[in-house]
Parts: sequence; C-alpha cells; structure tokens
Amino acid sequence: MNIILLGPPGAGKGTQAQRLVEAHGMRQLSTGDMLRAAVKAGTPVGLQAKAVMERGELVSDEIVSALIGEELDGMGPTTGAIFDGYPRTAAQAAALDAILDARGRTLDHVIELEVDEDALVERICGRFTCANCGKGYHDAFEQPREPGVCDKCGAREFKRRPDDNEATVRTRMAEYRAKTAPILPIYDQRGIVARVNGMADIDHVTAAIERIMAG
Ligand code: AP5
Ligand code: MG
Ligand code: ZN
Repeated sequence: MNIILLGPPGAGKGTQAQRLVEAHGMRQLSTGDMLRAAVKAGTPVGLQAKAVMERGELVSDEIVSALIGEELDGMGPTTGAIFDGYPRTAAQAAALDAILDARGRTLDHVIELEVDEDALVERICGRFTCANCGKGYHDAFEQPREPGVCDKCGAREFKRRPDDNEATVRTRMAEYRAKTAPILPIYDQRGIVARVNGMADIDHVTAAIERIMAG
C-alpha cells in the first residue's frame, strides 16, 4: 500500500505516519525529516536547504523528488510507503507519479487531514521529539508516560525544531495554501482522496485512517 498524508504544518502527518509504521510495518517517507538529517550532516543538499527551511519556504522540487526516489530504492518492493510532507507542489505530484510508475507502485489513498489553522500554531509551538529515536510529543497533548523519559526508547533528551516559531509557521501555512492545497484536485479526479477530521484527538484520527486503509 502507498499512501499520501496531506495537510498543513501541524496537521498531524508525522504523528499519524509514526503510528502506521508501528501498526503495519510501513515506511514513513518524510521529506522534512530527510532534509533535517541533511542539514545536520552538512551535506550539499543540507547546505542548500538550511536557510530556506528556516524561512519556512519550500526547498526545490528537484531536491526533494530525488530524496524520495533514493529512499524508495532502499526499500523492499512490498514494503508500504507513507508519504509525509511530499508531494507539496504540482511538479512534485507529477514527479511522484513517474517515480512510483518506474518502481511498479501505485497510489492507493491520499488522506487529507482537515484542520483549523488557528489551532495549528499551538500544536506546533508545543511540539518536541525524542533526540534519540525521533518519537513525537506535545507539551499539552502527548507527554511521555514517565516525565522526561521517552516512551519508546528510554532516552532522556528531547529537541525542538528551529522552524517551530510563530513567524515561520505563518510562512509555512501560506506556502501550503498557495502551492500544496491546489494539488488536491489532481487526486480528487482519480477518486482516491479521503478526508479526515484532523481536529479530533490523535487516537480518533488514527482510527479514521485505519478505516480508510481497510477499504
Ligand atoms: P515538514 O517537516 O514536512 O513540516 P510541515 O509540513 O510544516 O509539517 P509538520 O511536520 O510541522 O507537521 P505535521 O503535520 O507532521 O504535524 P505533527 O504530527 O508533528 O517540512 C519542514 C520544511 O522542510 C518545510 O517548511 C520546507 O522548507 C521543507 N520541505 C519538506 N518537505 C518538502 C517538500 N516536499 N518540498 C519542498 N520543501 C519541503 O503534529 C504537530 C504537533 O501536534 C505534535 O506535537 C503532535 O503531538 C500534535 N498533534 C498531532 N495530532 C494531534 C491531534 N489530533 N490533536 C492534538 N494534537 C495533535
Ligand atoms: Mg511532520
Ligand atoms: Zn526515543
């Protein structure tokens, strides 16, 4: 199964992708995570992406589509893919079609997380992740069971993203509205879009996605 999780910054794409990975052994392909890893490692892609990401603008289509192709090539042919934060432009949507086609994969579902933008700033500004395994948390909505200790791996260090400040979040939302939301009709025409209320609590959103995937 190959699915796209689509929604503005803070909609819960990463949160839901992590749950699908655990429940179904699928792979999360987050271009945001790949780019942050490249920035951290100081690769040529990372050097190009760093300032763009800090402003909340989009990195070039060529860079992100190349990252996705490489990641898919490293996966077993039967491992399902969850695209998280990709595609984000019409050019990326076209590139993804070609990338999947070349690998004998087809897109099963595009799941749009519908959210209220005002709530997203609070979600994003309260977000943190385990510095060791990347598990996501939130100050108000998803604290570790034991304070200060990661549920998944037991690490005690957490981190916050440099682009998770209000000014950058506003730019990220404007980019979403201008460039990403307009790609939905492409998938609507194919009849593969399902919409989920992303304002429901995290478990309810997961259950709704599971129902869509069960057909
Ligand atoms: P990226 O990393 O993709 O960021 P984003 O799209 O802005 O989305 P986020 O990761 O902020 O949100 P999310 O939907 O994953 O929410 P989460 O699950 O964490 O991209 C970052 C940057 O990289 C871009 O700005 C761009 O520069 C570049 N980039 C990446 N991909 C690119 C591409 N394809 N093309 C060009 N440039 C690209 O949830 C947020 C918080 O809310 C969490 O703390 C969570 O616990 C909480 N939460 C989640 N769901 C709920 C719920 N239902 N109720 C209450 N709280 C919830
Ligand atoms: Mg994310
Ligand atoms: Zn951890």
